[in-house]
Amino acid sequence: MKKQVKNNVSWVGKVDWELRSFHGDELSTHNGSTYNSYLIEEEKTVLIDTVWLPFAEEFVENLAQEIELSKIDYIIINHGEVDHSGALPALMKHIPDTPIYCSANAVKSLKGQYHKDWNFNIVKTGDTLDIGNGKSLVFVEMRMLHWPDSMATYLTEDNILFSNDAFGQHFATEELYNDLVDQCDLYNESIKYYANILTPFSAVLRKKLNEIIALNLPIDIIATSHGVIWRDNPMQIVENYSKWADDYQENQITIVYDTMWKGTKRLAEKIAEGISLEDSDVVVKLYNIAKSDGNDVITEIFKSKTVIMGSPTVGNDIIHTMKGFIHYVKSMKFKNKNAAAFGCYGWSGEGVKVLNGLMKDAGFEVVSEGFENLWNPDLDAENKAIEYGRKLAAL
Ligand code: FEO
Repeated sequence: MKKQVKNNVSWVGKVDWELRSFHGDELSTHNGSTYNSYLIEEEKTVLIDTVWLPFAEEFVENLAQEIELSKIDYIIINHGEVDHSGALPALMKHIPDTPIYCSANAVKSLKGQYHKDWNFNIVKTGDTLDIGNGKSLVFVEMRMLHWPDSMATYLTEDNILFSNDAFGQHFATEELYNDLVDQCDLYNESIKYYANILTPFSAVLRKKLNEIIALNLPIDIIATSHGVIWRDNPMQIVENYSKWADDYQENQITIVYDTMWKGTKRLAEKIAEGISLEDSDVVVKLYNIAKSDGNDVITEIFKSKTVIMGSPTVGNDIIHTMKGFIHYVKSMKFKNKNAAAFGCYGWSGEGVKVLNGLMKDAGFEVVSEGFENLWNPDLDAENKAIEYGRKLAAL
C-alpha cells in the first residue's frame, strides 16, 4: 500500500520480514529488510526504483491499484542490482515504451540481467529532469557505492535525496521513518550494513561525501532503498558515514578463533583475561567463528583497533573455518588495524606462522610474533597467555 513520504512523494515498496540472508547467503539479515520504491506525482509521474524479483508481481499489482500504470512518465533506476530492478520486467510488460533514466553502467547491468532493449536514457552527475510544478530531479553518480552503476537522485523543492543503497540498513519495519524505530536496532543494522557492504569502498565514499556536501543541496529527507527513511536529522547518517569511512575504530579488541579440543579456546579466554587486566576500559569480545555469524563478526572487527586470531595447527596449516573467514576479511580491505595470532599445536606447529602471513596479506599490521602452545595449555601456559593479552593491550 502507498504511504505518503512528503507532499506528492509516496513509498510504494515492499517490507520483507522473512529475509534472513541477502546476496545469496553472503550476508545475514536477522531483522529482514525492505525494498523501497518511491512514486512522485507532480505534473509528471515518476517511479524511483522497484523491488526484488520475488515480489515483482505483487509490486506491479499494488502499484496498479494506486495509479494507472500508463500514467507513469519516467522510471528512475538508481542501481541495477536485482533487489531494486527486479520488478522492471513485470512492470515493463504493461508500459514497454516508458523511458528509464539511469547511469551508463546501469544500462549494461539491466541489459545483462534482463536482455531487454528498453527505452534507456543515460544520465550523469548534474543532469536534471523537469517533472513540473517547479520541481526537478538532479542525478548524482555514486560509482562503486557499491556497484559501478549506482547513482542517487535528488528532488528539488521537497529536498529529498533518494540515495539507493547508501545510508540503508537491512531492517524490516512497518514504520517508515528513522525516528519511529528502536534507535539501537537502527544503529546496529546501519553499522553492520556499512561494515559488510561499504567498507571496501571507504576511500571512494570519502570523496563522494565531500562531493555531495559541496553541491550544497538542502537535504530534508534521505530516502534510502533499504530500511528506514531518514527524516529526523537526516545528516546524522551522513556524519556517521564520514566517521566510518575514515578507517573507523573504537577502543575494542576482538578475538576470533576456532578450536579442535578446546586448547586454542582456552588460550583465547586467557588472552582476553590479560587484556582486561591490563586495560579495564577496552572492550574485549571473543568469537568462535565456527559458532558465530560471520557478518556479525565482521562488524565487530570493523569496530576494533586490534584483532587477535587463533587456530590450532591442522595438517601443517590452520583450521579451514579460520582460513575461509580470513579470506572474507581480506575482501573488506580494512585499514588501520593491529593484529596478532595464537594457537595450540601437537606436532609441527605452523598455525601461528600461517595466521601471521594471512593477516598481513589481509592488510593488518601484525604487531607480534604470536603465541603458540604445545599440546593443551597447563597453568604455566595459561599464565603466559594472560601475559600475552596484557602485552597486546598495552601496545
Ligand atoms: Fe540493495 Fe546493491 O542492492
